[in-house]
Amino acid sequence: MTTKRAIIIGASSGIGREVARLLLREGYDIGIAARRENQLIAFKEEFSQSGRVEIMPIDVTADNAAERLEALIEKLGGMDLYFHAAGIGKQNRELEPDTELQTVQTNALGFTRMIGAAYRYFAKQGTGHVAAITSIAGTKGLGPAPAYSATKAMQATYLEALEQQARNRKLNIHFTDIRPGFVDTDLLSGDFRYPMMLKPEKVARQIVRAIKHRRHVCIIDWKYRLLTMAWRCIPRCIWRNIKL
Ligand SMILES: NC(=O)c1ccc[n+]([C@@H]2O[C@H](COP(=O)([O-])OP(=O)(O)OC[C@H]3O[C@@H](n4cnc5c(N)ncnc54)[C@H](OP(=O)(O)O)[C@@H]3O)[C@@H](O)[C@H]2O)c1
Repeated sequence: MTTKRAIIIGASSGIGREVARLLLREGYDIGIAARRENQLIAFKEEFSQSGRVEIMPIDVTADNAAERLEALIEKLGGMDLYFHAAGIGKQNRELEPDTELQTVQTNALGFTRMIGAAYRYFAKQGTGHVAAITSIAGTKGLGPAPAYSATKAMQATYLEALEQQARNRKLNIHFTDIRPGFVDTDLLSGDFRYPMMLKPEKVARQIVRAIKHRRHVCIIDWKYRLLTMAWRCIPRCIWRNIKL
């Protein structure tokens, strides 16, 4: 059996870091990336006894991000799984323009840049698996976080489109769209107390299981599966009056 190789973008904290740790434990060689190099180095120092860890600082909003991904793949000796966890999100009731635009830069432009690079690599290789954390926030337009909610819907639609395109082109590329509810990470730090908060360790375990079983869409956890099912049934004339 050859060792599988996974690249995790957004592995310097939160869910991505936990998934990287678990994949390493599952026997993967991993390549990890994010902007904070010190966090990547600390991860490597802590876990390199468990397996091979390569690091590369990458900012998904930068023009050279796809080239840096290629360099990381080369360092690792190839890629079988691309896992995209990089993302930002903030409540923005005042519609502060920088917050909205930075969110679009990272979650829409950065996402498209990186997922596209991984897709083209796998298309050339003939096989591969693309998995990404989108969110339940993409289910409906959420008033408190317009850019976050819209970019998460875009990400989910983009993965769905690529999945169809890959099938049409007879490419052996699998896709897993992971949609967690609220998770206790830096992304939700602040004074606001979110309900039904999930632990990143638990979410990461469910993510790795979903990847292993090549699930197409995985909403985490069951409470959020019910909640999003209910959200989808709410007509727009009622949705616009709901206070969030
Ligand atoms: N927490 C939640 O409730 C929740 C719920 C559903 C979905 N999600 C999604 O899960 C993903 C991970 O978030 P998290 O909750 O684990 O939060 P987090 O701890 O803040 O992790 C975000 C990760 O993304 C990286 N990142 C941000 N901007 C980047 C950029 N421009 N280039 C490269 N990497 C970048 C961060 O690293 P650097 O800062 O070092 O670059 C960090 O590693 C996000 O896509 C988020 O939208 C989170």
